[in-house]
Amino acid sequence: MDVLDCIRTRRSVRKYKEDPVPWDNIVTIMQAGKYAPAAGNIFNTKFLVVKSDAKRKMIAEACVQQYWMEIAPIHIVMVAEPEHMERYYGTRGARLYTIQGAAAAAENMLLTAHSLGLGACWVGAFDEEEIRRILNLPEHVNVQAVITIGYPDERPEPPVKQRIEHIVYFERWWGRMEAPKTGLGYWSPYIKRGLAETKKIAEKKSRKLVDRISQRIRKARKK
Ligand SMILES: Cc1cc2nc3c(=O)[nH]c(=O)nc-3n(C[C@H](O)[C@H](O)[C@H](O)COP(=O)(O)O)c2cc1C
Repeated sequence: MDVLDCIRTRRSVRKYKEDPVPWDNIVTIMQAGKYAPAAGNIFNTKFLVVKSDAKRKMIAEACVQQYWMEIAPIHIVMVAEPEHMERYYGTRGARLYTIQGAAAAAENMLLTAHSLGLGACWVGAFDEEEIRRILNLPEHVNVQAVITIGYPDERPEPPVKQRIEHIVYFERWWGRMEAPKTGLGYWSPYIKRGLAETKKIAEKKSRKLVDRISQRIRKARKK
C-alpha cells in the first residue's frame, strides 16, 4: 500500500473480530514503532504486550470504562522512561521529547497495523495509577498510550478533517497569501484545471442548447 493511501485510509477501529493476530504481525508492528524518529536517537519507550483476557478487561476498565477494548485480542501498552531522556536533554527531554518520541512510535504502529489489514486504536484516556497496578510498572516509568489491535469488524466512516487552507499560514501567524497563488485548496492547479474544463463543457452545452431553441423558434414561426 502506498504510504499516503495508508495514512489517508487508516481509521481508529473500535470493533474487532475475536480471531487471534499472528505473532509475527505484532512483532512487525513493534519494529515499526522502534523505527520512529527519536530525539538523539534515544528510544526510551517500552512495549508491554497484553494478551490475557483478564488483564485486557482490567485495562479497558482503567481506560475510563472503554469496554469495546476488551474485544481487541491484543493491547500494547506503551510506557516511557523519561529519566533516560532527561540525562541528555534535561527537563525538555523528560517532558517533551519523551512524549513526542512515544507519539511518533504510536503513529508508525497504527499505520503498520493498517497496512497489514489489521485495525488499531490509540487510547489515551486512562487512569495511569490503575494501569501501573495492573502491569506492575515500576515508579520511574510513565504510561504513554494503549494501542488496541485486532482484525477489524467495522469500517468506520472517515471523520471530518480540517481543510488544508485552514491550517496553513505562510511566513507568519495568520499569514495568508492571495488565494490564487497559494496552491492549496480551491486554488490548487488541479482544481483550476477542473474549473477550466467544466467551464468549457458548460459553454459548449449552452451553445448547443441555444442552437436547438433557435431552431425550434424558427420552425414555429414558419408554421
Ligand atoms: C492522544 C490521543 C488519544 C486518544 N485517545 C482515545 C481514547 O481514549 N479512546 C478512543 O476511542 N480513541 C482515542 N483516540 C483516537 C481518536 O479519537 C481518533 O484518532 C480521532 O477520532 C480521529 O479518527 P481517526 O483516527 O479514524 O482518523 C486518541 C487519539 C490520540 C492521538
